[in-house]
Amino acid sequence: MNRIGLKTKDAHKLSKELNTLLANYQLFYQNLRGFHWNIKGSDFFELHLKFEELYNDAQIKIDEIAERILTLGESPLHSFQEYLNNSEIKTVVGVSDGSKGLDVTLEGFQKLILQERKILKSAADLEDEGTVSLMSDYITETEKIVWMLASYLNR
Ligand SMILES: [Fe+2]
Repeated sequence: MNRIGLKTKDAHKLSKELNTLLANYQLFYQNLRGFHWNIKGSDFFELHLKFEELYNDAQIKIDEIAERILTLGESPLHSFQEYLNNSEIKTVVGVSDGSKGLDVTLEGFQKLILQERKILKSAADLEDEGTVSLMSDYITETEKIVWMLASYLNR
């Protein structure tokens, strides 16, 4: 049993899944920075700001996920190489079209939500309420952002 009363084996399994989420969030974050910097056109001012808002939110979640892994008694991935090796979300470069950037962002959000639902289920099975609660908040928040971005794109 670990310090917070979870079986070490269970905490290890959950940390592995959380590390995958962390890696995906890092790639997602860096893609958002690229859109923030590179988009052009008449929507520049609102999208430049929106992408900044999204990457700031991603940055907060990245820190929370890493610290949850530490709380579970394990170690968060922290090198670019490990993130690249463990992320389903891929690097996207050279996007200057705002809609394209939002499309890539929506695809990324979908992948993140699917991973979070999977982690929530594992955490619930292993009675790790702390991780359940974190994933539950992320899913609710992300689903709402997806609705708003889709509405902006008239979908
Ligand atoms: Fe900036």
